[in-house]
Amino acid sequence: MTATLSTPQIPHGTRIDGPDKVTGRARYAFEHPVDGAVYAWPVQSTIAKGEIRDTDASAALALPSVLAVLTPDNAPRLTADDPELALFQSRSVAYRGQLVAAVVATSLETARGAADLVRIDYAEVPHDVTLTPDHPGLYKPEKVNPNFPTDTEAGDPDGAFAAAPVRVDKTYRTPGEHNNPMEPHATIAWWEGDRLTVFEATQGPSRAATIIAGVFGLQPDQVRVIAEHVGGGFGAKGTPRPNVILAAMAARAVGRPVKCVLTRQQMFAVVGHRAPSIQRLRLGADENGRLTAIVHDVVGQTSTIKEFAEQTAVATRHMYAAPNRRTTHRMVRLDVPTPAWMRAPGECPGMFALESAMDELAVATGIDPVELRIRNEPAVEPESGKPFSSRNLVACLREGAAWFGWADRDPAAGTRRHGLTGTGVAASTYPARAMASQALASVEATGHYVVSIAAVDIGTGARTALLAVAADALGVPADHVTLRIGDSELPPAMIAGGSMGNASWSWAVTDACRALREQIRARDGAIPAGGLSAHSSTGDAIGALPDHARYSFGAQFADVRVDADTGEVRVPRLLGVFAAGRIVVPAMARSQFIGGMTMGLSMALHEESMIDPQFGDYPNHDLASYHVAANADVCDLDARWIDEDEPELGPAGAKGIGEVGIVGTAAAIANAVYHATGIRVRDLPIRLDKLLL
Ligand code: MOS
Repeated sequence: MTATLSTPQIPHGTRIDGPDKVTGRARYAFEHPVDGAVYAWPVQSTIAKGEIRDTDASAALALPSVLAVLTPDNAPRLTADDPELALFQSRSVAYRGQLVAAVVATSLETARGAADLVRIDYAEVPHDVTLTPDHPGLYKPEKVNPNFPTDTEAGDPDGAFAAAPVRVDKTYRTPGEHNNPMEPHATIAWWEGDRLTVFEATQGPSRAATIIAGVFGLQPDQVRVIAEHVGGGFGAKGTPRPNVILAAMAARAVGRPVKCVLTRQQMFAVVGHRAPSIQRLRLGADENGRLTAIVHDVVGQTSTIKEFAEQTAVATRHMYAAPNRRTTHRMVRLDVPTPAWMRAPGECPGMFALESAMDELAVATGIDPVELRIRNEPAVEPESGKPFSSRNLVACLREGAAWFGWADRDPAAGTRRHGLTGTGVAASTYPARAMASQALASVEATGHYVVSIAAVDIGTGARTALLAVAADALGVPADHVTLRIGDSELPPAMIAGGSMGNASWSWAVTDACRALREQIRARDGAIPAGGLSAHSSTGDAIGALPDHARYSFGAQFADVRVDADTGEVRVPRLLGVFAAGRIVVPAMARSQFIGGMTMGLSMALHEESMIDPQFGDYPNHDLASYHVAANADVCDLDARWIDEDEPELGPAGAKGIGEVGIVGTAAAIANAVYHATGIRVRDLPIRLDKLLL
């Protein structure tokens, strides 16, 4: 096990806010008691494309408890850069379910009922919501998220592929998927003069305050975002969504605090989704399985109002050695909601394709799939030539194979007739980064410490991990420290996203705490009556990081059982082994890894946002018809990690663990399904009908 903190600050397995959560004392955004609050309920467009000709709110306004109806005819002007946040600023409809109006009323039920009474007269035009590999609207985006080159090329990939003795050339598809955090997007907003305060379900109070301020033409310090507890996000709460803009606009319109919470069904149109992908993978290799060519061509979608170019092929740029290589991304603008961040955006769908293709290459060459990956391990980052700060994929594969019992595997596919069982492996990876953050550490004359940072705990255990980091850096027991997070008035910090939260925050917290400890030491421990404090800011140190390639890696092993009569796939065992730098709090880390793997299992077998071409909407927009893996779907699930010293990424040496766990899981399961059945499913999810041929 990786070294954890030097002093056992917090009892093993303890989540410091656990008692508050299980007793209901922990308050999520919508639950704060706010005097005089009223309710906003959105009206969603019933067409996928067209113009709003006219609106009629008279029937809604006739209800005595309706305070206001906001429409494009009367909404105040905003200064939003993001068209998804420019609520009621235009009469165009870009997708079905887009917010086109809203009712504000003194009860939630009246607001909801009155929303049905708002008449919207549309001029509808034909829409297109279907992604196809040869869509006439395909174009090359300037870059892919967050800022990668759209295409890369080295050597002669076409020539090398054509000349390769062993070739895999297959197309893989992943469907649209929706983030479904337990807590829906919710806001309570109120104004005091020109100052706006919101209780908000967000992954990033600092960033949310800046963006909301921009939408209303305010300075960031005129907006306060409080997010004490957040019930998950997976990227959907990484940036503000229309609910917070609606609540703030409504609060200004009626001069009272406004509460707004999205229903699960509304979330499917309003908070983003993982875009579907169509990915052609070409692998050329010699008879020994050494890759000579890797070509990964991706087709994806965005909306007509905003570009979101998912970085689907970027992981292919650093996974395996090959002298000849190319990656490309092409997009089409469809009449759909703008896609957005969903756990490991890019890496997750991209690695399904790459790691499935590697399994197909293992079959084609007759080389064990663990050994095949080890043979193609690069010495430096293949496309850039940069050294890796630390890279332990091979150790994850070897140790995972040993723990899983891979050595006894019979490589033949579809031969274990007794219950159709099979095993599969795939690699995982995710970038390891940190973003500039600040922290303040103070000590009072009483000797009590307060550490402040605008971090947020979205259910990951960040509050526990940061308290442990702070106490460790201060060299005091954890109960001598109060940790303040979840408020944009605290020192600004990175969002809980991109697997960068802990790495970014613990860097700033460690720096501030060490500086404070030095001050105290310099005074021989004497704390003045007014206390002492130290502030940190990590921007310069992060800017000075060596230009190296930094990623976490993992290997996932799946055991599946397929019912030969029904096609039902069960996953009796899933093991992930990860190398992710220092593991700060093992219990919280384990739950992040197995949470990611569970979401990967869900992606493999269940999740599929179907789009109805006629109505241009997701008919399965609830948790009954969009199944997310539940307890009954998960059997023996285990995550382990190996010792890894990450020398560059801040004083904590933590690489981030929020996303690497979902990457590769779906391929490991699909590869195991092939091993069990001899059927290669290249389009997720692996529904039972795809196995009944
Ligand atoms: Mo994650 S998709 O960066 O919240």
